[in-house]
Amino acid sequence: MGGSGLVVRDLSVGYGPVRALRRVSLEVPEGAVVTVLGSNGAGKSTLLRAVSRTLSFHGGAVTEGTVSLGGRRLDGLGPDRVVAAGVSQVPEGRRVFARMTVADNLRAGALRADGGRAGRAAALHRVHELFPVLAERAQQRAGLLSGGEQQMLAVARALMAAPKVLLLDEPSLGLAPLMAERIADTVREINTQGTSVLLVEQNAALALRLATRAYVLEVGEVTLSGPAAELAASDEVRRRYLGVVDEDAAADAEQAGGVRRTLTRWKG
Ligand SMILES: Nc1ncnc2c1ncn2[C@@H]1O[C@H](COP(=O)(O)OP(=O)(O)O)[C@@H](O)[C@H]1O
Ligand SMILES: [Mg+2]
Repeated sequence: MGGSGLVVRDLSVGYGPVRALRRVSLEVPEGAVVTVLGSNGAGKSTLLRAVSRTLSFHGGAVTEGTVSLGGRRLDGLGPDRVVAAGVSQVPEGRRVFARMTVADNLRAGALRADGGRAGRAAALHRVHELFPVLAERAQQRAGLLSGGEQQMLAVARALMAAPKVLLLDEPSLGLAPLMAERIADTVREINTQGTSVLLVEQNAALALRLATRAYVLEVGEVTLSGPAAELAASDEVRRRYLGVVDEDAAADAEQAGGVRRTLTRWKG
C-alpha cells in the first residue's frame, strides 16, 4: 500500500507539555472505512484534529510525523486548505451553529469547498437525499433539532465540501441505540457513494461492523491493528471494548454459586 489514500506516519502530538499521541501510524485506503477504537482520553479526537490541522484551536501541536492524502502532504497546510484538498471533519459533540438555520449551516459547510456553484448544488442534493429531514427543516434553527438530527446536520455539513475522506468523531455518542443505528447506516451509504471514512468510536461493536480495518489506541499509542473481523474476534478487544466477560471467569463464578447450567436441562 504505497499510500493512495490517507496516510499517517509516526505522528506525535502535544498539548504544551502533555504528550497526547506517540508515533501513531495508520492508513485509510481509498474507498475504505477504517476505525480507531479507544477509551476516553486515548487520543482519538487529537488524531482527527492533527489530520484536519485544527489542533492549534485546542492549544495542541504536531511535534513529529507526516499526514498525506494521495501522496500529497497535508501537514503544513491550514485547515481551509485541508478541506479543499478533500478531508472534512465532523467534530466531537455534533457542534452545529445552533442559532443559524439548517440551510445556513449547510451553506457554511460548502464555503471552503472547491467545486463552485454546480458542486454546491450537487452536494446539497446529495445530503438532502441522505437526510430528507434536513430538507424539511431547512428554515428551522439548528438548535431546535433533536440530538440525532443535529448529528445528521453535522455530518451533512461536512459532506457539503464533497470530501474524499470523512473524519467522524464519535458520531454515536449520546444517541439512543436506534438513532446510532441510523447514523451507522448512513455512514455505510456515504462510503458506498465513494467517500472514505475514518471513524473514531468508543462504541466498538458499531464501529467494527462498519469498518474493514481497525486500530486500537491506548494512551496515545497504537497497540493493536488489523482487519476489523480479526479484532472483533480477539479476546482482548472482546473483553476491553465489546464488554464480553471472560468465559473461564464466568464459568468459575457459576460453579462457585453452585449453579450447574449444563445439567439443568436434564432435570425433570
Ligand atoms: N485541549 C487540550 N488541552 C490539553 N490537553 C488535552 C486537550 N485535549 C485533549 N487533551 C488531552 O490529550 C489526551 C487525549 O485526549 P483526546 O484526544 O480528547 O482523547 P479521546 O478523544 O480519545 O477521548 C488526554 O489526556 C486529554 O486530557
Ligand atoms: Mg474524543
